[in-house]
Amino acid sequence: MKKLMKGIGNWLDNFKETSVIGLDIGEDTIKLTEVDTGRGRIVLKGLSIVETPRGGVEDGKLKAPKMVAEILNPVFEENNFSTKQVTTAISGEEVITRAIEIPNIPKEELGEAVKWEASAQIPIPIEELILDYEILGRGEDGSYNILIIAVKKKLIDNYLKLFELLKLQGVAIEIEPIAIARTVGKLYETDTIGVIDMGTKTTDISILHKDQLLFTRTVGIGGIDITHDVADSFELRLEEAEEYKKENNLFEEGFTSLVLRSLTTDIYRSLDYFQVKNKGVDIKKIILTGGGSKLLGLDKHLSNEFGVNVEKLDLSNRLTSNLRSEEDLLQLAPFLGVSIGLALREEGIV
Ligand SMILES: Nc1ncnc2c1ncn2[C@@H]1O[C@H](COP(=O)(O)OP(=O)(O)OP(=O)(O)O)[C@@H](O)[C@H]1O
Ligand SMILES: [Mg+2]
Repeated sequence: MKKLMKGIGNWLDNFKETSVIGLDIGEDTIKLTEVDTGRGRIVLKGLSIVETPRGGVEDGKLKAPKMVAEILNPVFEENNFSTKQVTTAISGEEVITRAIEIPNIPKEELGEAVKWEASAQIPIPIEELILDYEILGRGEDGSYNILIIAVKKKLIDNYLKLFELLKLQGVAIEIEPIAIARTVGKLYETDTIGVIDMGTKTTDISILHKDQLLFTRTVGIGGIDITHDVADSFELRLEEAEEYKKENNLFEEGFTSLVLRSLTTDIYRSLDYFQVKNKGVDIKKIILTGGGSKLLGLDKHLSNEFGVNVEKLDLSNRLTSNLRSEEDLLQLAPFLGVSIGLALREEGIV
């Protein structure tokens, strides 16, 4: 897993100091953290959460770096962080992954073979992509099972612009599922874990096996769709629906939500697809994260539907900080998985 996106990582190859800020630019809020780690513990040295300016981010993509820089400038002026180095992530939705098989060739030739396969399988000119790959395993005949990861180069321009405006030193740009995988991998020992990160407009479903990201898929349903659904069903204004959603267990309300139904089906399909392709690898646990994971009863609902242990990302006793009260930290923890994973990158720097 550590090697994933090294293409992008090395591309910005500036890594010198030890600490790095994890910058997660979400559709709803922007989260920044700086961490220290001990055994299975994470100490937050720096933390800021600010609302994303309207139009700053669109469909998971940083659209207006200037607007976002204006909002973030005061955060850095207040000296909340001890470093100028930063790692950020792009939405899983923007990443193209392909699982392929390559025959037994010398390892040095894999890079070329991956390029060739990528140009055959991805309908975007290869010069416009940043490519990386991960060897997932090898067949008895020595063939390679490979996960190709590709991102459009152009997508990265706005992030570089943002770094420049904020006078930050960009260390790496990753994808969100990899960042979250690092946080979950640090805190849980379970062999195979499913991670569901429910944000504002999308939900990322990922599967990790022994610290390696094996699978990731983005579903175009997020917290905002649930709010709209509640607003329509109960004839509420959007702000009222947002409150209602946060305060009530929608699964106990006798409220039949089409949105929740299709989200559940989409997650199930992804898990099922993974299980069919990876017989013998059993998903032992599913971790919920992102703001949507706070939805009351979601863990129980998914657990009943899938027959697997589903729990919220549990940071109690694992995340400490003298910046906020313990209770505040627990409230905030579901939002911080990606940002903390990015800040943890120093340990796994390639
Ligand atoms: N207590 C709560 N119960 C249910 N949903 C909540 C709660 N608190 C926040 N949310 C929802 O979480 C979502 C925001 O989550 P998050 O901050 O993880 O998204 P984001 O990272 O900004 O967005 P994205 O990852 O899609 O770019 C919103 O849709 C919000 O309504
Ligand atoms: Mg997010």
